[in-house]
Amino acid sequence: MALADFLATLDSLAQEAETAFLAVGDVVALENARVDFLGAKAGKLRQVQKGLGSVTPAEKPAAGMRFNEVKNLVESAFATAQARLSSATPESRESVDVTLPGKPRRVGHLHPITQTIRSMKEIMGRLGFTAVEGPEIEDEWHNFEALNIPLVHPARDPLENFYLGVAKDPPAEAGSPGPFLLRSQTSTVQIRVMESTLPPVRIISLGRVYRPDTADATHYPMFHQIEGLLVDRGVTMADLKSVLRMFCQSYFGGEDEVHIRFRPSFFPFTEPSVEVDMNWRDAQGNAGWMEMGGAGMVDPNVLRAVGYDPEEVTGFAFGLGVERVCMRQHGITDIRALYQNDVRFLEQF
Ligand code: DAH
Repeated sequence: MALADFLATLDSLAQEAETAFLAVGDVVALENARVDFLGAKAGKLRQVQKGLGSVTPAEKPAAGMRFNEVKNLVESAFATAQARLSSATPESRESVDVTLPGKPRRVGHLHPITQTIRSMKEIMGRLGFTAVEGPEIEDEWHNFEALNIPLVHPARDPLENFYLGVAKDPPAEAGSPGPFLLRSQTSTVQIRVMESTLPPVRIISLGRVYRPDTADATHYPMFHQIEGLLVDRGVTMADLKSVLRMFCQSYFGGEDEVHIRFRPSFFPFTEPSVEVDMNWRDAQGNAGWMEMGGAGMVDPNVLRAVGYDPEEVTGFAFGLGVERVCMRQHGITDIRALYQNDVRFLEQF
């Protein structure tokens, strides 16, 4: 073979190899190209090398030199392609793209009932009421007896309460152990406070109460109450109404928008007793009387049960439903929604 032909073959091989290695897109194509050009037995370079034997001895050095150059060229084209593909392995393709929007972390917030409780405490605190807590597991003395609810009263029916043991006869006395029940009202805390403090008393207590009601839109076997108690010399029903009006006005806002109404009622632990209704026109223009709970003047029997002298002091008490207030405020129509723990619902508030 003439030297010129040999060199031309080498040149076109170099060209071809360069183009081929530039074009490979994955490791399989790379390997195919490697075998095609650099394969030890049948590779194109090997084929061309065979032509080296047919050039004249005088031309051999030049031909050999050029062959080595082209061989290096092809090998470096292969190495470049190999480096290009390995820098694009899946690992590095998964590297952080700082231009993408981040994954936002979910920020928790307070349950609507907790928010309501906190704001109630804050408002009543400004009116001079101290928040106190009582146990959720109570004895019959605090849940009933001391509150002037006798054993025969229907409120003590085992089917109306979550008793934790067998109901006992005769009725429990102060300090006697069990039977215990999940408290059915926060009025229990009135007794606990008065038993351990002398008048004047000015407290609120907010917490859970339990009744075996079937859950529906307005009932749930566990709910929350806010209890208020003020005992001092010369306390009257006018004080009760003023405090409740100020409380509701502060909670719902706008002096002209909130009204309080008393309806005569009966509770064993107050005399006289009233049902408390509230009327508030909300931003959507909804208005109407809503029952909030019960209230009244502390019954002399209750004062006597805790060792107070009804001739010396009088007091008022009230117990309102926290869920009702919260639901009215937010326009929630089903109490169950508060306790299904659906974050999509809860995060609206
Ligand atoms: N404890 C009553 C209930 O759960 C509510 C209540 C009524 C509380 C009158 C009071 C009160 O303090 O004076 O239905």
